[in-house]
Amino acid sequence: MRSINQSLSITTTRHDSAIDSLPWHLPLENWPEELVAALPRGISRHIVRFISLDDERIIAVKEIDERFAHREYQALRGLARLEAPAVEPIAVVSGRMGEDGEPMGAALITAHLPYSLPYRAVFGNHQRPETVRRLIDALSVLMVRLHLIGFFWGDVSLSNTLFRRDAGAFAAYLVDAETGEIYESLTRGRREYDIDVARTNIIGELMDLQAGGILPPTYDAVSIGDSFAKRYEELWVELTRQSLVGTNERWKVAERIERLNELGFDVGELSMSTTEDGTHLLITPKVVDAGHYSRLIMRLTGMDVEENQARRMMNDLEQYRATRGMIDESLTLVARAWMANVFEPTVSGVPLELRGKLQPAEIFHQFLEHRWYISEQAGHDIPFKEALNSFIENVLRLKRDERSFLGS
Ligand SMILES: Nc1ncnc2c1ncn2[C@@H]1O[C@H](COP(=O)(O)OP(=O)(O)O)[C@@H](O)[C@H]1O
Ligand SMILES: [Mg+2]
Repeated sequence: MRSINQSLSITTTRHDSAIDSLPWHLPLENWPEELVAALPRGISRHIVRFISLDDERIIAVKEIDERFAHREYQALRGLARLEAPAVEPIAVVSGRMGEDGEPMGAALITAHLPYSLPYRAVFGNHQRPETVRRLIDALSVLMVRLHLIGFFWGDVSLSNTLFRRDAGAFAAYLVDAETGEIYESLTRGRREYDIDVARTNIIGELMDLQAGGILPPTYDAVSIGDSFAKRYEELWVELTRQSLVGTNERWKVAERIERLNELGFDVGELSMSTTEDGTHLLITPKVVDAGHYSRLIMRLTGMDVEENQARRMMNDLEQYRATRGMIDESLTLVARAWMANVFEPTVSGVPLELRGKLQPAEIFHQFLEHRWYISEQAGHDIPFKEALNSFIENVLRLKRDERSFLGS
């Protein structure tokens, strides 16, 4: 029998008895095996375990000093409020006491991010250098997004990031916010600190992969670290720079906004002022929000998908509109027809037991890729049913389950 721990204190916004009844009086290391779903593969300072609360929910429990647990919990709460891509905080458990009556360290609980992969799991046993570039791209986008909302990370690295597949690319999520803090806005010094830490950590992590034979020895880890800083800087400048347009070339303002949309950002607020001589306009994006296409897809279909997946879906939707003679119909109406006749039949055509392999929007994207590929091979269009069967048997069935891939 478990002894009732009187001093236990749980900070949370949603009480959950499944969490109360975990064996908090035992060090995480000694939790019974039937509770532990797996150990994470990421590199960590603290002891971290994945626990299955029930059939649906998996949590990550990290044993950590109480002060830091609260700090990280608050940082993650702040990020959640700002809708930043990060793991969702659930609770801090403190006041733990061992069976011998000795006080124990606190625990931070976060929700396991479904379909996420630690970078080592993305790599598997060997990998194409192209994959590294995609991970680095995703991480640089994440860092720009976090900096735009004033978040200073303090410990940027591949191990402190989780990756989700996103239509041939990756979407990055912050997992470790221990050193993070949200400011009104970030100074250049703080941003540069993050870039520098990221660069150093990435180089170290890639060299580790090389030492483990996962990346070829010829691989230039240092230049990849440098390319991270470059990617970050390009995106940051594009999103924040002031531009000068003639008062008679206002169309250039629209062009700037379109360019930002193309990069996946919406302009929430634009500041415009006239130069002293009145011949030019100075425009600066004041508020930019990531997720241009995913917001559009959310509005049209109610689905929450990653940015490139959303872009892919919009392209397919526009193509559907054109080929079905629906050019004059509203986008809302087209989206409803497209969902019913294209997207849903694809996803629901996948046998239930294979649906946990990839997220629905990713299944859709990969199906489109596959259909294109086999049609090209055949030299003619492959009908939907046949293409879907081929995709299920030749692609999806061979993949691992990534819904709750825990790296065991
Ligand atoms: N909510 C979560 N979902 C998925 N993986 C997680 C989650 N929390 C932690 N992990 C995994 O555990 C690893 C260690 O967590 P982290 O918070 O970075 O610990 P540390 O502070 O010790 O570095 C991460 O790299 C990640 O792989
Ligand atoms: Mg960490």
